[in-house]
Amino acid sequence: MAKSQDIRNQFLHFFKEKGHNIVPAVPIVAKDNPSLLFVNAGMNPFTSVLLGEETPSAPRLANAQPCLRVTGKHNDLEVVGHDTYHHTFFEMLGNWSFGDYFKEKAIPWAWELLVEVYKLPANRLYATVFQGNREDDVPLDAESLALWQHHLPDDHIIHGDKEANFWEMGKTGPCGPCTEMHIDLRSDKERSLVPAQNLINKGHPQVIELWNLVFIAYQRRQDQCLVPLKDRHVDTGMGFERLVMALQGKHSTYATDLLRPLLEVLGARIGKTYGKDATTDLAMRVIVDHVRAATFAIADGARPSTQKAGYVVRRILRRAIRYGFTHLNLKKPFIHDIVPILVEVYGSVYRRLAQHASSVQQAIEQEEIGFLRTLASGLKRFYTMTSQLPPDAPIKGTYVFELYDTYGFPPDLTSTIASEKGYTIDQKGFDVAMLQQKTRGKQTTHDIGDWHIVKSDLKHSLFVGYDEYEATAQVVKYRTVKRQGHTIYQVVLDQTPFYPE
Ligand code: SER
Repeated sequence: MAKSQDIRNQFLHFFKEKGHNIVPAVPIVAKDNPSLLFVNAGMNPFTSVLLGEETPSAPRLANAQPCLRVTGKHNDLEVVGHDTYHHTFFEMLGNWSFGDYFKEKAIPWAWELLVEVYKLPANRLYATVFQGNREDDVPLDAESLALWQHHLPDDHIIHGDKEANFWEMGKTGPCGPCTEMHIDLRSDKERSLVPAQNLINKGHPQVIELWNLVFIAYQRRQDQCLVPLKDRHVDTGMGFERLVMALQGKHSTYATDLLRPLLEVLGARIGKTYGKDATTDLAMRVIVDHVRAATFAIADGARPSTQKAGYVVRRILRRAIRYGFTHLNLKKPFIHDIVPILVEVYGSVYRRLAQHASSVQQAIEQEEIGFLRTLASGLKRFYTMTSQLPPDAPIKGTYVFELYDTYGFPPDLTSTIASEKGYTIDQKGFDVAMLQQKTRGKQTTHDIGDWHIVKSDLKHSLFVGYDEYEATAQVVKYRTVKRQGHTIYQVVLDQTPFYPE
């Protein structure tokens, strides 16, 4: 069985031979693009080059670029775990031409690599081409169609609309028609019953997109007009995990040598075997996908926090912790133990992972400790709320909201816990409470006074909680806050037993 490492190298080698410079991946945390928190496509770092605002280091480049699709136009967070081939984090293998070759080379090379180098069966490959769009005044991509006809029979070429075959990075930016390569990995019997053409882009786990070849020729402007670019470019992106899945003869990306070792470590850690129970499998998929995403993001500088990229990392990690908590009964930190195996799988390719492994592991463990504590308090509150509730009664929307607002339980988590106890939740009541809070937030004006310093030589308060329930303290600084006609004081003390949540 071909190893993922070799498959990645073969891709880079192939394009090197075709005159491309191989460039290293950029950090996954998007630094130069204010509209993006994370790199979500291999082409992000080349946006200015594609728009003609910057000169590339060479007209032909190729790389393997980690991507994260968890916010904005490309967001797969909520589907991850529910199927066997979507990921928040994935690697994208790409080759670029900046004003150099176009479709006449990109398409034959893609075919050559897949069929002659990787030896994927030609009769299982399909291509989609852009059918054109009148509103944007872009015609059918007849050139791609003709190029594919050299390799594929007509019934393996499918015409796609703007949604499927016109690639855009976001609301604005470089864009153009694309042609995608799909593969049908079903058994011969299944294939004889339903043709793959009926399943392409329909969410079938064995009939999947492998590679997207984008022919950048336009810029989508803020006013949504499409303006032709001076030069035409090629931007391709192949889903590495899916390619490895096809080449290793697997039916799930989680069965490849990229993710299987993670499932094994997790399974050993929690005493479960992947593949025995649907709910356990789902939770295990969520956890290994999310810890991989968080590990790369933290190694690249986005530590879990309340802000921007850090907040997204926190959400990813908390989703994983929640799945473990709810479906695997994991009440102690467990996710951070997967980090070392990630370093084994990826460390030689992505050096930052190996360099920052121990601080990444610590950051994840801290997040687990904090969130598990909150979850446990929330669960206690849940049991108090429902102790008097008759069976089948809905849990009041205000209660569901309190669990969300104070304990970080999204309504779907409350709903899952509720259904385990035979209850339902009042979703409408929750929506009303949520709306009321938003309205309150808008109405509330705070008039915050300046801090009055009482004791200037103290940098940090001492936390004496857990051991002490009372303490005598001195005020370090205070300020007044006027809200809706009331004045309150906020004080900072030199020591305190209070734990803020
Ligand atoms: N930009 C395209 C994509 O992300 C191809 O690289 O799918």
